[in-house]
Amino acid sequence: MGSRWNDFHLDDRITDQRAPLHYHDRIETPAIDEDKIIDAIIASMTRESETTADRYKHAVRASHAKVSGVAVGELRVLPDLPPELAQGLFAKPGTHPVVVRFAQGPGEYLKDSVSTHRGMAIKVFGVEGEKLPGHDAPTQDFVFATGLVFPNPDAKGFLGSMKQLEMGTKAPEAVKVAVSQAARALDSVVRAVKGESSPLLDFFGHQPLHPLAEPYYSQAALRYGDHVAKIAAFPASPAQSALAKETLHPGDDPDAFRHAVLAYLKGEAAVFEIRVQLCLDLNEMPVENASKEWSEEASPYRTVARIVLPPQDGYAEAKRKYADDVLSFRPAHSLAAHRPLGSLMRARLKTYQALSRFRHERNQVSEVEPISIDQVPT
Ligand code: HEM
Repeated sequence: MGSRWNDFHLDDRITDQRAPLHYHDRIETPAIDEDKIIDAIIASMTRESETTADRYKHAVRASHAKVSGVAVGELRVLPDLPPELAQGLFAKPGTHPVVVRFAQGPGEYLKDSVSTHRGMAIKVFGVEGEKLPGHDAPTQDFVFATGLVFPNPDAKGFLGSMKQLEMGTKAPEAVKVAVSQAARALDSVVRAVKGESSPLLDFFGHQPLHPLAEPYYSQAALRYGDHVAKIAAFPASPAQSALAKETLHPGDDPDAFRHAVLAYLKGEAAVFEIRVQLCLDLNEMPVENASKEWSEEASPYRTVARIVLPPQDGYAEAKRKYADDVLSFRPAHSLAAHRPLGSLMRARLKTYQALSRFRHERNQVSEVEPISIDQVPT
């Protein structure tokens, strides 16, 4: 989305002197019918997964099925963070192993000419501290996607979109190529007029950028220790900046994004800065509406850590298979200090668990949350 991301990465750009909001237990305001809505989301995504599992004779993720690269590396928490940023996982400097899975948006394997939003799922190892109920492993997942915001505000909005996605899953691939091209063309017009993308058009018609050359966002809010924040990963090496100028041709190569990621990782390290945008005010920066952009002028994204993925084979078969079939990256794999917040996040807490169980059971693969990076085949 937009081209503003590289304008706001300096920590001294704070223009708003308000103190960050203090976290408290009444920040979330669930709707009365939310459980019913979440059950309907799970039912719809399960039907979608049945369709694709029958098609591929193998269950794939209900979202972000097509991997474009899997990389291991390190997350380095910066020293000397100011108190409001030294929270949760980022409370003290240190290095943690990570495994990162990059993937296209749809819950099916499509040609890359269906250029949709993409995901970056990060599993951090060696994480100490109280976890969310049901999560006992020493891991913290961050599950990000391209786009500053999510196209739907909440679980109810997502259910409406999901019903359409479920119907769309059965449509021929040619129709999806045409929809993605049309969304991309229309979004170019929106960008020319408004200076930024439409979240919905970008979701279905993302520009064919290099997957290692753009930022990935939590889009929805999470607890940030004493505060509340959105969090994101920004590409941070000169080689990745150079990639941003490259044009990919997914029309000529149905796996263009994967080939681009693998070619880069063969010879270069990929570096991402983890940056945090603190919430200042719940009216301007709501947690219950994930489609509302938080002003970066009031509260810029500030760097708290750096992920370094050294050169490697980003599609080594054993590692790829482990990431695709054994692992589950999900917002519920979290420290209590980074509890996901808001309607969309509450839906994600239950839905990823249900759909991951479907995927593992259908493939007869045990679902094991690793406790060490040594379990990831390299
Ligand atoms: C803030 C917005 C969202 C972002 C950034 C996001 C991102 C992602 C990413 C990156 C993955 C791949 C995870 C992996 O590699 O294991 C994923 C998978 C998935 N997402 Fe989301 N997503 C969002 C919203 C949602 C919502 C609202 C739902 C439904 C309530 C949902 C349901 C799923 C499911 C079911 C999977 C597959 C899980 C599995 O089979 O293990 N996502 N999402």
